[in-house]
Amino acid sequence: MVTVTLHIWRSDHTFTYHTVNVPEDSYVIDAIERVVAGQTAEANHPLLVWRHACHHASCGSCGVRINGLEKLPCVTPLSDYAPGRPITLRPLAHFPPVADLVVHFASFFERMRTVGMPIVRTDETVPREGVTASGGESAHKANEPSAPLDLTHDLRFEDCIECGLCVSACPAMVNPRFIGPAALAAAERLMEEPRGADLVSLLQVVDQQTGVWSCRSSYSCSAVCPSGVDPAGAIIRLRKRILDS
Ligand code: FES
Repeated sequence: MVTVTLHIWRSDHTFTYHTVNVPEDSYVIDAIERVVAGQTAEANHPLLVWRHACHHASCGSCGVRINGLEKLPCVTPLSDYAPGRPITLRPLAHFPPVADLVVHFASFFERMRTVGMPIVRTDETVPREGVTASGGESAHKANEPSAPLDLTHDLRFEDCIECGLCVSACPAMVNPRFIGPAALAAAERLMEEPRGADLVSLLQVVDQQTGVWSCRSSYSCSAVCPSGVDPAGAIIRLRKRILDS
Protein backbone atom coordinates (compact mmCIF):
# COMPACT_ATOMS: atom_id res chain seq x y z
CA MET A 1 0.00 0.00 0.00
CA VAL A 2 1.04 3.62 -0.51
CA THR A 3 -0.11 6.73 1.33
CA VAL A 4 -1.37 9.53 -0.89
CA THR A 5 -2.46 13.06 0.00
CA LEU A 6 -4.94 14.75 -2.31
CA HIS A 7 -5.33 18.51 -2.29
CA ILE A 8 -8.79 19.08 -3.78
CA TRP A 9 -10.36 22.32 -5.02
CA ARG A 10 -13.78 22.95 -3.53
CA SER A 11 -16.64 25.17 -4.60
CA ASP A 12 -16.03 27.66 -1.79
CA HIS A 13 -12.62 28.46 -3.35
CA THR A 14 -10.66 26.58 -0.71
CA PHE A 15 -8.77 23.29 -0.83
CA THR A 16 -9.41 20.29 1.34
CA TYR A 17 -6.63 17.81 2.21
CA HIS A 18 -7.28 14.07 2.28
CA THR A 19 -4.77 11.37 3.11
CA VAL A 20 -5.68 7.84 2.01
CA ASN A 21 -4.00 4.45 1.61
CA VAL A 22 -4.33 2.64 -1.71
CA PRO A 23 -2.54 -0.27 -3.44
CA GLU A 24 0.74 0.67 -5.11
CA ASP A 25 -0.51 0.12 -8.64
CA SER A 26 -3.53 2.43 -8.17
CA TYR A 27 -4.64 5.27 -10.40
CA VAL A 28 -5.60 8.76 -9.27
CA ILE A 29 -9.27 7.82 -9.59
CA ASP A 30 -8.77 5.09 -6.98
CA ALA A 31 -7.46 7.63 -4.47
CA ILE A 32 -10.43 9.95 -5.17
CA GLU A 33 -12.83 7.06 -4.67
CA ARG A 34 -11.13 6.22 -1.38
CA VAL A 35 -11.63 9.83 -0.28
CA VAL A 36 -15.29 9.76 -1.25
CA ALA A 37 -15.85 6.42 0.47
CA GLY A 38 -14.39 7.68 3.72
CA GLN A 39 -15.70 11.21 3.90
CA THR A 40 -18.53 12.51 6.01
CA ALA A 41 -20.41 15.75 5.46
CA GLU A 42 -19.16 18.63 7.53
CA ALA A 43 -20.68 22.04 7.97
CA ASN A 44 -17.89 23.85 6.10
CA HIS A 45 -17.19 21.21 3.47
CA PRO A 46 -20.10 19.23 2.08
CA LEU A 47 -19.46 15.89 0.37
CA LEU A 48 -17.09 16.11 -2.59
CA VAL A 49 -18.78 16.49 -5.98
CA TRP A 50 -16.97 14.78 -8.85
CA ARG A 51 -17.89 12.87 -11.99
CA HIS A 52 -16.83 9.56 -13.51
CA ALA A 53 -18.35 6.52 -15.16
CA CYS A 54 -16.34 4.08 -17.26
CA HIS A 55 -12.96 3.92 -15.45
CA HIS A 56 -11.16 3.28 -18.77
CA ALA A 57 -10.88 6.53 -20.78
CA SER A 58 -14.03 5.88 -22.73
CA CYS A 59 -16.81 8.09 -21.32
CA GLY A 60 -14.71 11.26 -21.05
CA SER A 61 -16.49 12.37 -17.89
CA CYS A 62 -13.75 12.35 -15.24
CA GLY A 63 -11.39 14.99 -16.65
CA VAL A 64 -9.71 17.35 -14.16
CA ARG A 65 -6.43 19.22 -13.81
CA ILE A 66 -3.92 17.19 -11.85
CA ASN A 67 -1.00 19.28 -10.64
CA GLY A 68 -1.97 21.82 -13.29
CA LEU A 69 -2.20 19.46 -16.26
CA GLU A 70 -5.40 18.18 -17.87
CA LYS A 71 -5.75 14.44 -17.26
CA LEU A 72 -8.24 11.61 -16.99
CA PRO A 73 -7.72 10.32 -13.41
CA CYS A 74 -8.98 6.89 -14.47
CA VAL A 75 -5.89 6.30 -16.64
CA THR A 76 -3.37 8.37 -14.70
CA PRO A 77 -1.22 6.15 -12.45
CA LEU A 78 -0.30 7.45 -9.03
CA SER A 79 3.25 6.35 -9.83
CA ASP A 80 3.46 9.34 -12.21
CA TYR A 81 3.78 11.57 -9.14
CA ALA A 82 6.53 11.97 -6.58
CA PRO A 83 5.91 9.82 -3.49
CA GLY A 84 4.98 11.80 -0.40
CA ARG A 85 4.11 14.99 -2.31
CA PRO A 86 0.44 16.13 -2.31
CA ILE A 87 -1.41 15.76 -5.61
CA THR A 88 -3.54 18.79 -6.45
CA LEU A 89 -6.88 18.36 -8.22
CA ARG A 90 -8.74 21.26 -9.81
CA PRO A 91 -11.73 21.32 -12.18
CA LEU A 92 -11.18 21.89 -15.92
CA ALA A 93 -10.60 25.48 -17.00
CA HIS A 94 -12.76 27.48 -19.46
CA PHE A 95 -15.97 25.73 -18.37
CA PRO A 96 -18.60 27.18 -16.00
CA PRO A 97 -18.30 25.47 -12.62
CA VAL A 98 -21.05 23.22 -11.28
CA ALA A 99 -19.50 22.17 -7.98
CA ASP A 100 -16.05 21.12 -6.75
CA LEU A 101 -14.44 19.09 -9.59
CA VAL A 102 -17.48 19.14 -11.89
CA VAL A 103 -17.98 21.66 -14.70
CA HIS A 104 -20.86 22.38 -17.06
CA PHE A 105 -20.42 20.94 -20.58
CA ALA A 106 -23.26 22.73 -22.43
CA SER A 107 -20.82 25.18 -24.06
CA PHE A 108 -18.68 22.29 -25.30
CA PHE A 109 -21.57 20.66 -27.13
CA GLU A 110 -22.79 24.04 -28.45
CA ARG A 111 -19.39 24.43 -30.09
CA MET A 112 -19.59 20.94 -31.55
CA ARG A 113 -22.99 21.83 -33.04
CA THR A 114 -21.47 24.96 -34.60
CA VAL A 115 -19.58 22.73 -37.01
CA GLY A 116 -22.57 20.43 -37.50
CA MET A 117 -20.98 17.53 -35.70
CA PRO A 118 -23.56 15.22 -34.24
CA ILE A 119 -22.73 14.21 -30.68
CA VAL A 120 -23.14 10.56 -31.56
CA ARG A 121 -22.62 9.35 -35.09
CA THR A 122 -25.71 7.83 -36.61
CA ASP A 123 -23.72 5.57 -38.92
CA GLU A 124 -21.04 4.31 -36.58
CA THR A 125 -21.68 0.67 -37.39
CA VAL A 126 -21.59 -0.56 -40.96
CA PRO A 127 -23.84 -3.63 -41.12
CA ARG A 128 -22.24 -6.83 -42.23
CA GLU A 129 -23.83 -8.75 -45.03
CA GLY A 130 -27.00 -10.38 -43.73
CA VAL A 131 -26.97 -8.32 -40.50
CA THR A 132 -29.35 -5.45 -39.81
CA ALA A 133 -27.92 -2.33 -38.15
CA SER A 134 -30.48 -2.58 -35.34
CA GLY A 135 -29.87 -6.26 -34.64
CA GLY A 136 -32.70 -8.74 -35.02
CA GLU A 137 -32.78 -12.29 -36.25
CA SER A 138 -30.02 -11.96 -38.80
CA ALA A 139 -27.76 -10.22 -36.25
CA HIS A 140 -28.37 -13.09 -33.87
CA LYS A 141 -27.05 -15.46 -36.51
CA ALA A 142 -23.91 -13.36 -36.90
CA ASN A 143 -23.28 -13.56 -33.17
CA GLU A 144 -23.21 -17.33 -33.13
CA PRO A 145 -19.79 -18.78 -32.24
CA SER A 146 -19.16 -19.87 -35.82
CA ALA A 147 -19.62 -16.34 -37.22
CA PRO A 148 -16.27 -14.73 -38.10
CA LEU A 149 -15.38 -11.60 -36.14
CA ASP A 150 -15.20 -8.76 -38.65
CA LEU A 151 -13.54 -5.82 -36.92
CA THR A 152 -13.22 -3.98 -40.24
CA HIS A 153 -16.93 -3.28 -40.13
CA ASP A 154 -17.57 -2.99 -36.41
CA LEU A 155 -14.89 -0.54 -35.27
CA ARG A 156 -16.12 2.92 -34.28
CA PHE A 157 -13.99 5.35 -36.23
CA GLU A 158 -14.37 8.32 -33.92
CA ASP A 159 -11.58 8.87 -31.46
CA CYS A 160 -12.73 12.01 -29.64
CA ILE A 161 -14.35 11.03 -26.34
CA GLU A 162 -15.58 14.61 -25.72
CA CYS A 163 -13.71 14.85 -22.43
CA GLY A 164 -12.95 18.58 -22.80
CA LEU A 165 -9.27 18.28 -21.81
CA CYS A 166 -8.19 20.05 -25.00
CA VAL A 167 -10.55 22.96 -24.35
CA SER A 168 -9.29 23.34 -20.79
CA ALA A 169 -5.64 23.32 -21.93
CA CYS A 170 -6.12 25.75 -24.83
CA PRO A 171 -4.70 29.25 -24.17
CA ALA A 172 -6.94 30.74 -26.89
CA MET A 173 -10.08 29.74 -24.97
CA VAL A 174 -9.75 33.01 -23.04
CA ASN A 175 -11.81 34.23 -26.01
CA PRO A 176 -15.22 32.73 -25.19
CA ARG A 177 -16.29 33.01 -28.86
CA PHE A 178 -13.48 30.76 -30.09
CA ILE A 179 -14.89 27.51 -31.47
CA GLY A 180 -12.09 25.65 -29.76
CA PRO A 181 -9.88 22.65 -30.53
CA ALA A 182 -12.42 19.85 -30.17
CA ALA A 183 -14.94 21.38 -32.57
CA LEU A 184 -12.23 22.30 -35.07
CA ALA A 185 -10.86 18.77 -34.96
CA ALA A 186 -14.40 17.54 -35.58
CA ALA A 187 -14.72 19.94 -38.53
CA GLU A 188 -11.50 18.67 -40.04
CA ARG A 189 -12.72 15.10 -39.58
CA LEU A 190 -15.88 16.01 -41.48
CA MET A 191 -13.73 17.36 -44.29
CA GLU A 192 -12.08 13.97 -44.54
CA GLU A 193 -15.32 12.00 -44.17
CA PRO A 194 -18.18 14.38 -45.13
CA ARG A 195 -21.16 12.08 -44.46
CA GLY A 196 -23.35 14.51 -46.40
CA ALA A 197 -22.04 17.66 -44.72
CA ASP A 198 -21.99 20.95 -46.67
CA LEU A 199 -18.21 21.38 -46.83
CA VAL A 200 -18.33 24.88 -48.39
CA SER A 201 -20.43 26.20 -45.50
CA LEU A 202 -18.30 24.32 -43.00
CA LEU A 203 -15.14 25.89 -44.36
CA GLN A 204 -16.75 29.32 -44.01
CA VAL A 205 -17.56 28.60 -40.36
CA VAL A 206 -13.99 27.65 -39.51
CA ASP A 207 -12.42 30.40 -41.67
CA GLN A 208 -13.16 33.07 -39.06
CA GLN A 209 -11.39 34.84 -36.25
CA THR A 210 -13.55 32.69 -33.99
CA GLY A 211 -12.30 29.63 -35.90
CA VAL A 212 -8.86 28.45 -36.99
CA TRP A 213 -7.32 31.93 -36.92
CA SER A 214 -7.68 32.21 -33.12
CA CYS A 215 -5.47 29.17 -32.54
CA ARG A 216 -2.08 30.12 -31.08
CA SER A 217 -0.40 26.92 -32.26
CA SER A 218 0.74 26.06 -28.75
CA TYR A 219 -0.21 22.40 -29.33
CA SER A 220 -1.40 22.27 -25.71
CA CYS A 221 -4.61 20.59 -26.89
CA SER A 222 -2.77 17.78 -28.66
CA ALA A 223 -0.43 17.31 -25.70
CA VAL A 224 -3.29 16.53 -23.29
CA CYS A 225 -5.65 14.58 -25.58
CA PRO A 226 -5.98 11.06 -24.13
CA SER A 227 -7.10 9.64 -27.49
CA GLY A 228 -4.40 10.94 -29.83
CA VAL A 229 -6.83 13.12 -31.79
CA ASP A 230 -4.24 15.89 -32.36
CA PRO A 231 -6.61 18.89 -32.66
CA ALA A 232 -3.68 21.25 -33.31
CA GLY A 233 -2.61 19.22 -36.33
CA ALA A 234 -6.22 19.24 -37.55
CA ILE A 235 -6.31 23.05 -37.24
CA ILE A 236 -3.10 23.37 -39.28
CA ARG A 237 -4.62 21.15 -41.98
CA LEU A 238 -7.79 23.25 -41.96
CA ARG A 239 -5.75 26.42 -42.41
CA LYS A 240 -3.94 24.85 -45.35
CA ARG A 241 -7.24 23.76 -46.86
CA ILE A 242 -8.60 27.32 -46.54
CA LEU A 243 -5.49 28.88 -48.08
CA ASP A 244 -5.56 26.37 -50.94
CA SER A 245 -9.26 26.90 -51.70
S1 FES B 1 -14.19 7.56 -15.94
FE1 FES B 1 -14.69 7.53 -18.07
S2 FES B 1 -13.05 8.61 -18.99
FE2 FES B 1 -12.46 8.48 -16.91
